[in-house]
Amino acid sequence: MTPLPNIAFDAEDGVDLAALEGTVVVFAAADKMLAPAATTADRLCGGALSRAVGDAAFKGKAGVVTMVNWPAGMAARRLVLACAGEDADGAALRRVGGAVAKALAPKGAVTIATGGTAPDDMIAGFVLAVALRLYDFREYKKPEEDAEGPPPPRSLRVLADNAEALARESSAHMALAEGIYFTRDLVNEPANRLTTEEFAARLAAMQELGLEVEIMGEPELEALGMRALLGVGQGSVTETKVVTMKWMGGGDEAPFALVGKGVVFDTGGISLKPAAGMEDMTMDMGGAGVVSGVMRTLALRKAKANVIGVVGLVENMPDGNAQRPGDIVKSMKGDTIEIINTDAEGRLLLCDVLWHVQQAYKPSAIVDLATLTGAVIIALGHHRAGYYATDDGLASDLEAACEATGDDCWRLPLGKPYADQLKSRKADIKNTGGRPAGSVTAAEFLHAFVEEGMPWIHIDIAGVAESSGGTDLAPKGATGWGVAALDQLVRTRYEG
Ligand code: BES
Ligand code: MN
Ligand code: ZN
Repeated sequence: MTPLPNIAFDAEDGVDLAALEGTVVVFAAADKMLAPAATTADRLCGGALSRAVGDAAFKGKAGVVTMVNWPAGMAARRLVLACAGEDADGAALRRVGGAVAKALAPKGAVTIATGGTAPDDMIAGFVLAVALRLYDFREYKKPEEDAEGPPPPRSLRVLADNAEALARESSAHMALAEGIYFTRDLVNEPANRLTTEEFAARLAAMQELGLEVEIMGEPELEALGMRALLGVGQGSVTETKVVTMKWMGGGDEAPFALVGKGVVFDTGGISLKPAAGMEDMTMDMGGAGVVSGVMRTLALRKAKANVIGVVGLVENMPDGNAQRPGDIVKSMKGDTIEIINTDAEGRLLLCDVLWHVQQAYKPSAIVDLATLTGAVIIALGHHRAGYYATDDGLASDLEAACEATGDDCWRLPLGKPYADQLKSRKADIKNTGGRPAGSVTAAEFLHAFVEEGMPWIHIDIAGVAESSGGTDLAPKGATGWGVAALDQLVRTRYEG
């Protein structure tokens, strides 16, 4: 796994700023007041920082105010002045954390002096943001010393008024950071490496953390009648699997269930995708990646909640054995499905996994995540995930969790006219509803496999699982969108 930066918390008192090497980060408040370490650094380097906050260009916004390379009077190679902005809310902390991570000199130690700036929970949120933005997937690169371009810093020293309290406050944040790193690694891995077997093995390894992990292979799935799921994997040599991760940290209440689409590669099958951009379909297991990262976080922070994560792992390949357009398969629920397009495979795997989860665990609510449709990207771009809900209370809890964590989402409608687009002449339902409202009809397909009265949310993360340009908190590539929001949803809904 990509290692998290190693973070040490130390007392700020008595540290000689002039002697620190590498990068030193200090803070100014929105009203131009320099925090104690910034005041000291300003004096050492002849007033550069007070001139920066005194300049008309300083607007007190969250971000990096200025960077001084080779500051006079200090051993450091770079001095960074940052500001958390006027309201210093979650969004501002994420912005300043991301900006600081990008401003660190590639070589040498990193010291961040937070004394006298903000309460511990806010500093911990800022440190989390720095750690998340420092993620760097190097699995297939030359060793760091030979690689072009220096690697990002691997260790941070955070100076604080009360280092012990801050370290305590940070531990749950670091559980979240590890879950997000785990998800991003899964999403970034290519499909020749991350086969369904390798994916399942990485989940099985989480038993060490206290999760219960069960793996079902093709014979078990066949016995359960999951023909819709199995049909998707029929053309692939890597075995279709369903992996269940259980974290029962609560009482004897019914579990909350998370379900994820884990298509390790989506060629489209016989309805083959065009070549241009097909390599991006290594991320089509993004929903399963998020579910796995959330389960890892819950185990690491020993959440007081009962949560079950279930992922369907399958590869969609064209082959002599592959499923054809026109085939009719029987789902575990018993409904028959006419396959119009083998590229609409995510819903075929999810319908069986959703049905299985409801039968096996009688959950109190279900959230599924999937890189399900290109259509959601047409609707919302790469800025927000689209979600659908059968329960307004669950929807408002999700919105609050997304708002708090910066994993932005937007509710889209369910409804009979959309479901009607899925009527089949020959079978109970067909797997596509045509081009109009493509993300909505995909959601309505899943809805047909959710029992009446079950609080359920489907989140289409096709647009947000990866970022081509990077975000405040993630470099280019996998974002880990949703791990933070779902961890937060578990906290507010089940641990409150
Ligand atoms: N995995 C894709 C959706 C996708 C597209 C994810 C772009 C990430 C980025 C999904 O399996 C798919 O192929 N959906 C089709 C459905 C259509 C055939 C009804 C689509 O969106 O075109
Ligand atoms: Mn597809
Ligand atoms: Zn797909």
